[in-house]
Amino acid sequence: MTVLFTIFASIAVLHTANTTMVLETEPGQELKTIYYGTKLSESETAMLGSYKAQRTYPCYGVIGTEEAAFAAVQADGNRTVQLRIESAETTPWDGGNQLCVTCKDGFYPLTVKIHFKTFKDQDMIETWTETINEGKKPVTLTRFDSGHLPIRVDDVWISTLYGTWANEGRVNTEPLTRGWKVIRNIDGTRNSHTSHGEVMISLDGKPREDAGRVIGAALCWGGNYELRFQTNDSDYHHFFAGILPEHDNVVLAKGKSFATPHLALSFSNDGLSGVSRNFHRWGRKYMLRHGDQERRILLNSWEGVYFDINEDGMKQMMDDIASMGGELFVMDDGWFGDKYPRNNDHTSLGDWTTDTRKLPNGVPGLVKAATERGIKFGIWVEPEMTNTVSELYEAHPDWIIKAANRDIVKGRGGTQVVLDMSKKEVQDFAFSVIDNVMKESPDIAYIKWDANAPISMDFSNIAYWQGFYAMVERVREAYPDLTIQDCASGGGRANWGVLPWFDEFWVSDNTDALQRVYMQWGTSYFFPAIAMASHISATPNHTVFRTTSLKYRIDVAMSGRLGMEIQPKNMTEQEKDICRKAIADYKRIRPIVQFGDIYRLVSPYDNRGFASLMYVTENKDKAVAYWWKIANFYDEHFPRLRFAGLDPERSYRVTELNRLDISPLAYEGKSFTGRFLMESGLEIPATNNVEYSLKSDWSSRVLLLEAL
Ligand code: GLA
Repeated sequence: MTVLFTIFASIAVLHTANTTMVLETEPGQELKTIYYGTKLSESETAMLGSYKAQRTYPCYGVIGTEEAAFAAVQADGNRTVQLRIESAETTPWDGGNQLCVTCKDGFYPLTVKIHFKTFKDQDMIETWTETINEGKKPVTLTRFDSGHLPIRVDDVWISTLYGTWANEGRVNTEPLTRGWKVIRNIDGTRNSHTSHGEVMISLDGKPREDAGRVIGAALCWGGNYELRFQTNDSDYHHFFAGILPEHDNVVLAKGKSFATPHLALSFSNDGLSGVSRNFHRWGRKYMLRHGDQERRILLNSWEGVYFDINEDGMKQMMDDIASMGGELFVMDDGWFGDKYPRNNDHTSLGDWTTDTRKLPNGVPGLVKAATERGIKFGIWVEPEMTNTVSELYEAHPDWIIKAANRDIVKGRGGTQVVLDMSKKEVQDFAFSVIDNVMKESPDIAYIKWDANAPISMDFSNIAYWQGFYAMVERVREAYPDLTIQDCASGGGRANWGVLPWFDEFWVSDNTDALQRVYMQWGTSYFFPAIAMASHISATPNHTVFRTTSLKYRIDVAMSGRLGMEIQPKNMTEQEKDICRKAIADYKRIRPIVQFGDIYRLVSPYDNRGFASLMYVTENKDKAVAYWWKIANFYDEHFPRLRFAGLDPERSYRVTELNRLDISPLAYEGKSFTGRFLMESGLEIPATNNVEYSLKSDWSSRVLLLEAL
């Protein structure tokens, strides 16, 4: 980042590996954004003189017709803010630079620092603000976006993720038209079941995976948020992102400050997949817990036995996953409760004592059993919640979130309520849930941390999340090495505001392979495969009751962090063999899937009868490609599969994984140049040529490409 003097008075130039952002930082003026896009040289930057600068952080009250990113009410009732730059300072940090533009209100003692953090090895810029009340009287912030980005009008499209329970991460694509587009979430605890706090902004017409200028934006916040696009009669669309202020007016007493969550921005000339690669790399390196460590292949007990937990059953599942080559067994819900045993979802959350009627040797007995089988052990908890039928609630009815003078709104099971995480004693309790489990069984390697209820009553969402962060930070200080899954009724917490404390998330309670193709496609826009828990489950599927072939279920699950969620007891020996082979194959490709760059090739949303994506290692020596049929009609005609991201000059040997076909593919074991694979492609037979008992209406392929 250098400060140049061209025909602009003062500008700050923020560079990342391949992108540049230029801001006008003239003291006494408002901060303005001049440019964000492909990397510029110094002489090109100087040419930006003709570009119109737009306010970077428009404030309410004295800016005419523009919408505001920031608004505050002074103690005297004045609702206007007028910020002027006092100074702009650049300081290096290990991975890049940080620019802090200090702005002061012209009349009231209010300071707003607008921050930008660049990453020299990543195409990512994080921005956020910090407001400080330097006066004696309180100031109330009524709007406090993390950032605002002016986007030059053109054929601009946005891609957003929406959905619901069991249907998370659906892609919605639409052009930006005049007026407003608002994406918000008011769930309170699970902000990505429905609308996601991330958006792709395609600047060159209908989004493409492999080409076109795209800006990706992700609000790094676990709570309620609002993303807004305003398109008025000007040369710019205006994009705003921040905490939803509706449930929170931030009152800043004398000397107090408030920092917004970070808004992560990434630009790529290589289409949607280009931005996804940027988010994945940055996410693995700087955000996700243990983003550089391979994830274990696990069996989770939930869809296998639901609440029917007992010691023999758990041991049988451990035997099965160990015999198939798995590395971890996770005991899900149903293991706890004394006065109220947890036999269904109506009771017991909060009563984290082992139900010794089900587990006579307790959790330590199970951890020992896992160790004896050469695998690790994991356990399910839901520390932020209770049921009104629980010993915890009986002892501390005042610990739950409840509006004064109103009935309690109850969630799951008709009794589930959310603990008030803003209370220190509740934070201590939630911490103790993990701490006690870990103290009793220090060898536990994995926690599945669930959150299955919304905040249904008026409550400060910021206070909840500040409490959550303080508590989870303590958990991480005490247990830095634990693998912790973030689960929230499925994919309710797939966001970069939570993942820095977690290793992965449960993409959805819906494990149907076909629907997962769609959900994982959308989720991969912003989140890397290493973080996306993806499990092989039974058929008919327990949510959609669809019957898919085992190979298809495996081939879909293997495109994320592979696991199983099934009762192995009910599988045939042949099915177990197929899974054993799949687990062995996954171990071969695990580094490619979990650390590779994604190239989405053919979208299921394009309704072409199939979908395909691939991962390529950073040095392009290995790749793995997935091809899944998404509809089955007789005599369908598919194009050859053209790959992406390979080195055109190198030759790659093709090996089919999870092969069940009687005869190998024509190109099995053969080598082709990257150029041929990308420009001409390979024939993918429309059906799997398998023995009669394995024939089904599903078809899929996983191809490993290895450079010679
Ligand atoms: C949630 C999770 C599931 C399972 C159940 C247990 O729904 O998403 O995976 O853990 O809770 O009650």
